[in-house]
Amino acid sequence: MDQLLVALDVETGRRALELADTLADFAGGFKIGSRLFTFEGPPLVRALVDRGARVFLDLKFHDIPNTVAQAVDAAVRTGAWMIDVHASGGTAMMREAVRAGREAADRLRRPAPILVGITVLTSMDDAGLRETGVERPLLDQVVALARMAKAAGLHGVVASPHETASIRAACGPELTIVTPGIRSASAGGAKHDQTRTMGPAEAVRAGASYIVVGRPIIAAPDPRAAAAAIVEELRIEVEP
Ligand code: C5P
Repeated sequence: MDQLLVALDVETGRRALELADTLADFAGGFKIGSRLFTFEGPPLVRALVDRGARVFLDLKFHDIPNTVAQAVDAAVRTGAWMIDVHASGGTAMMREAVRAGREAADRLRRPAPILVGITVLTSMDDAGLRETGVERPLLDQVVALARMAKAAGLHGVVASPHETASIRAACGPELTIVTPGIRSASAGGAKHDQTRTMGPAEAVRAGASYIVVGRPIIAAPDPRAAAAAIVEELRIEVEP
């Protein structure tokens, strides 16, 4: 199912590819994070792309605009379909990321990558945010960063499912919203270290365009069955 992005948070490329093969008919794409990418690099992204998979390269770029532009260009060359940057890197940085993504894709005659902005990490709370000098409430900061990301030309944002409805209300129906922190009874019920969770269908109902699911699928005794259960929940929501 298109909306389900599976986080391949495993130690080796070999295990990631095994999982990708196992889950191919259920996943709308696979997320590669900094751990796996640091260890396995672009060949793993290419191996997934060669299998026909969409890859969300979750490296959360945050640097000066020129460096982020070059990193986005490199990410497009790996074949990534979705790429993220920190919205708190600022408007100029996000604009450069969009420009670089579009130019690299044009050069390679491919569709432009979907660029999404991280708003506030779900590991942060109001107190942690205040420590960094941000005085307004966390939800206000999330919505402000989402508005900034949209104005800078990003296609969307990454946010907790609990923030989705406020972002949707502020930024409209076109913005892509990607939400991790998905848990449900059908996925085994364990929350792991995620605190503010939501079920898959509930997250889509709240306005998520894509949900990112890691451990409820990849750490399940039967990852295929776990993915199938989530797809079934989503199908009921998307095709009532
Ligand atoms: O295993 P789980 O379903 O919690 O995996 C969620 C994935 O989404 C992980 O790769 C995690 O790093 C990522 N993520 C997150 N919260 C964010 C951004 C990314 O959990 N705000």
